Amino acid sequence: MQKNKVRKAVIPVAGFGTRLFPATKVVKKELFPIIDRDGRAKPVILAIIEEAISAGITEVGIVVQPDDKEIFENLLKNPPKKELLNKLSPQNQEYSQYLEHLGSKITILLQEEQLGYGHAVFCAKDWVQDEPFLLMLGDHIYTSDIDKSCASQVLNVYEQVNQSVVSLTTTPAENLHISGCVTGVWQELNSILEVTQLYEKPTIEFAQQYLRVQGMVENEFLCIFGLYLLTPKIFDFLAEHINQNFRERGEFQLTSCLDRLRQEEGMTGYVVKGKCFDTGLPDAYRQTMIDFRNC
Ligand code: UTP
Repeated sequence: MQKNKVRKAVIPVAGFGTRLFPATKVVKKELFPIIDRDGRAKPVILAIIEEAISAGITEVGIVVQPDDKEIFENLLKNPPKKELLNKLSPQNQEYSQYLEHLGSKITILLQEEQLGYGHAVFCAKDWVQDEPFLLMLGDHIYTSDIDKSCASQVLNVYEQVNQSVVSLTTTPAENLHISGCVTGVWQELNSILEVTQLYEKPTIEFAQQYLRVQGMVENEFLCIFGLYLLTPKIFDFLAEHINQNFRERGEFQLTSCLDRLRQEEGMTGYVVKGKCFDTGLPDAYRQTMIDFRNC
């Protein structure tokens, strides 16, 4: 196997989605519907899986709460009920077959306790094993500005630089409180960055002092776009934080481990030629529903 060939993607979907309560009392946010550019009503997770597959990923691990295993299996592993299948249009019957084929690439993994995003990623360790992998947020979907999908762009950069890659987008200061922020030194202006620091949800004052990037306008910063290409070394740092019960805001976070990974192995930031749509907040979800279909 080619050393830096990326085969696996991990999508953690085991959170509670508190910001979308009470809808998330009955529907996981990763199962909320969106209308995709092909005009189909899809659960968010399906658009994310398709993004991974578009980049040549052949195995997708989805980290779920034990109580949600059945619903994800029903969507991704089981055929629809016969009565439903018979009533579907020929196009949707065909799509249903394609879904079953997609299902064969998916493994459901469990996060027994909801101890944070970093902890959910750690739950994929045994499945990922000793390979680089694509990590995808469960509540972000993407459109590319070029003919390569956003996930393919990130994979291509990884194949070039051979170190972990964090995808980035330009973000106005007023959105820093919901974002992981990154600073560094441009290797290729406005495209490829040598990352020198990652910082979760900084204040505007902190960002202005420490996270400015050369050449960017005063109130714009580089923030995480939701796709990461990580080496398996990340699991060592996550394991250390979990074993030492090192929590931030009560949970095991990913960003501080990403920063340790950066220090140990180096990390490249890549400004994706595309857009990222958040579905994890009420108004962002509403805007995604409006914009995603036509972009
Ligand atoms: P988020 O913080 O966006 O999701 O985590 P959340 O915790 O479900 O949502 P809020 O903040 O309460 O509204 C990023 C991703 O990590 C998953 C989420 O499902 C989401 O896709 N996650 C989060 C887990 O799998 N397990 C966790 O313990 C926490």
